[in-house]
Amino acid sequence: MNRSPSTFFVRTYGCQMNELDTELMVGTLSKRGLTRVYDESEADILIFNTCSIRDLSERKVMGKLGQIGRWTKRKPIIGVTGCMAMAKKESLFKKLPHIDFVLGTNNISDLDYVIDEVIAKNKKMILTEKQFEENLDYFVAERNDKVKAYVSIIRGCNKFCTYCVVPYTRGQEVSRPPEDIVKEVQLLADQGYKEITLLGQNVNSYGKDRPDWSCLFHDLLEKLDQVNGIERIRFMTSHPVDITRNLMQAIRDLPSLCEFIHFPIQAGSNRILKKMHRIYTKEEYFEKVAMLREIVPNATLGTDIIVGFCTETDAEFEETFQAFKEIDYSVAFIFSYSARKGTPAMRWKDDIPEEVKQERLQRLLQLYYKMQAKQFQDLVGTEKEILFEKVGKNGMVKGRTRCWQNTIVPGGEELVGTLQRVKIHGFSNQTLHAELLRQPASLL
Ligand code: SAH
Ligand code: SF4
Ligand code: F3S
Repeated sequence: MNRSPSTFFVRTYGCQMNELDTELMVGTLSKRGLTRVYDESEADILIFNTCSIRDLSERKVMGKLGQIGRWTKRKPIIGVTGCMAMAKKESLFKKLPHIDFVLGTNNISDLDYVIDEVIAKNKKMILTEKQFEENLDYFVAERNDKVKAYVSIIRGCNKFCTYCVVPYTRGQEVSRPPEDIVKEVQLLADQGYKEITLLGQNVNSYGKDRPDWSCLFHDLLEKLDQVNGIERIRFMTSHPVDITRNLMQAIRDLPSLCEFIHFPIQAGSNRILKKMHRIYTKEEYFEKVAMLREIVPNATLGTDIIVGFCTETDAEFEETFQAFKEIDYSVAFIFSYSARKGTPAMRWKDDIPEEVKQERLQRLLQLYYKMQAKQFQDLVGTEKEILFEKVGKNGMVKGRTRCWQNTIVPGGEELVGTLQRVKIHGFSNQTLHAELLRQPASLL
């Protein structure tokens, strides 16, 4: 082991919360004077910030770690962080003896300490506290993106859907004080950021664990909308049960709040929803969507769906298919069920054959692509506001509509970070093609 490391490599798996945690770890390590490298064979410290949501997520990391264990020339310090650290804990050392430390999702602030101990004592370290304590220095985060930033507002999940590892890998819900969030968002605005995405495993539970703050999710949104310079606010992810009328009104009334809402249905049959412990019926879900459409007629919806959950029949899948069609989602993440150790669903047989799961998945994907093409076709000829994010290929610059649709126009660096009106003239591969309605002032 190199006792005076100078470089590190981090790879992130999983969701946006993991991406933000990586940004925090990168900031912490840079503060130590270490330099980030992007080639793992050049790093003195390797960190894998992992995800356990599906079996495949874990297998990818295990494969990678196994491969590194066979390195003979270099022996970097290796750390496993994130949800797999919480799901597998000490067993990781048994399976992969070359790992030096395991740091759980609730111990990110201990990264420095753990590395010091590993170096000083040459011993293996593991910290996997069950519960998050709001002790992170969010201001240390080192972000790659200059236009959009993730901001953590609540960690953990109390919902306990029967298929899901998150309540076990992230612990109970812990909200972050509103003043801290406002301060960070103000700082981001001062640094030139134009868009923030508020993160949490269930953002609209925000503040429920702290009635003394009298600040629920929609109250927080109101405060953040007032921060000068932030043009767009998004949030990820939300549970349908906690999507309230107040939140819908906030989407309608707050200028910076985008009219896109992730509204994950997961399944369209009441029996399956109950078995998943989603705590809403299909009818309740549809009622909420109708309320949203009434309050915010131009809102677009995203969803997550799991196909092939234990005992799901063809007829029940058909209900999911119909619901998907009816709601007309603009964004969908569709997964086939993956049994996870430690979750309540493990007590049932994972009885839907893989080929049936795949067939259902493909059917939904085909429907999704067809519906998306239709939505894009309907947008041709319309005008939209785009926040440009980065330069793409072939003289194009990439951005998104307020409703999260990828859009490209001819242009370059000068557009990045600006908001522009464009006219949509076509689309391909889940991307809208557009042209600027007028040249930006800086180009005149
Ligand atoms: N808090 C978020 C979900 C985070 S996990 C929410 O409730 O919307 C993201 C998605 O992964 C879930 O919405 C679900 O669709 C999917 N997922 C979770 N556990 C899964 C499992 N065991 N198998 C397949 N997909 C799963
Ligand atoms: Fe998992 Fe359900 Fe919590 Fe989402 S709401 S993180 S799916 S337990
Ligand atoms: Fe994965 Fe953990 Fe996120 S399981 S999806 S990294 S909360």
